[in-house]
Amino acid sequence: MYIFESCTLARLSFCLLVYYISPSIIYLTKEGIVMINVAICGSSGKMGKEVVKAVSNADNLNLTAKIDINGGEFSSIKDAKSAMPINVLVDFTQPKSIYENALYCLNNGIKPVIGTTGLKDEEIRELEKITKEKNTGCLIAPNFSTGAVLMMMFAKKAAEYFDNAEIIELHHNQKKDAPSGTAIKTALMMSEAKKCFTTGNCPETETIEGARGGDSYANIHIHSVRIPGYIASQEVIFGEEGQIFKLRHDSMNRECYMKGVLLAINYISAHNEFIYGLEKIM
Ligand SMILES: NC(=O)c1ccc[n+]([C@@H]2O[C@H](COP(=O)([O-])OP(=O)(O)OC[C@H]3O[C@@H](n4cnc5c(N)ncnc54)[C@H](O)[C@@H]3O)[C@@H](O)[C@H]2O)c1
Repeated sequence: MYIFESCTLARLSFCLLVYYISPSIIYLTKEGIVMINVAICGSSGKMGKEVVKAVSNADNLNLTAKIDINGGEFSSIKDAKSAMPINVLVDFTQPKSIYENALYCLNNGIKPVIGTTGLKDEEIRELEKITKEKNTGCLIAPNFSTGAVLMMMFAKKAAEYFDNAEIIELHHNQKKDAPSGTAIKTALMMSEAKKCFTTGNCPETETIEGARGGDSYANIHIHSVRIPGYIASQEVIFGEEGQIFKLRHDSMNRECYMKGVLLAINYISAHNEFIYGLEKIM
């Protein structure tokens, strides 16, 4: 009896604390669970469908709107917002929509969790500025797979010890942007450990343009492969005389992203912060 009462009291205190931090975010079920209203933009797409399943199965998430220009309950965030309560919006759409979608959310009291890749550096900086001005939350993750994020974290560590490194990313041939957001973020994290990597050890001539890949942060070359059959894979190769060190991650299906998506929704609903990269909350 005493234990039951302490648990109930602890849960209620937690709810009150969350409510104090962010009153618009929550409502309580009669069991005292903190519920977050979630909308999914791009709900008919490959990632969107998985997120619909994951959110529907989560005890503390309330799926309030499926938004998609192709077969969604709503065709725009604006329409969904005027009909349903939305605290957090998960976006898996396409590079050309994502910036406008995120701006709309931040200016209309919705916290965006952005999985869509293809945002430009200046757009990311602008979203960070607006998030801070509005004192709200925004989370962007080029990769929600916990394994892929660990690969990026280990790549940053390995970058301290090797002067030569290149990235090969491999995706299905429907992917619209190249290189992948994960590859760009990996290079960015590695560049925090080392300012400049050695590209070749002699003057190079490309007889076929692009053969050496794209030159990214800290001169790390990125090679993009697009072949049906892949979902998302990436290899980071480090080398020096006498040794090669490889980090590799393969996504076998889209379920692998869902743990990270749920983590992001829960985190951002309770925090007014700008987060770029799932590693910041892992
Ligand atoms: N961050 C990650 O972990 C991660 C993982 C996989 C894919 N992605 C990225 O997620 C995005 C979506 O990938 P996908 O494979 O699901 O693509 P998809 O083409 O299967 O799905 C995109 C969906 O978005 C809809 N859509 C497009 N523009 C829209 C808009 N303005 N408003 C509403 N709906 C819109 C489309 O109709 C489609 O149903 C891509 O940018 C991809 O690179 C990110």
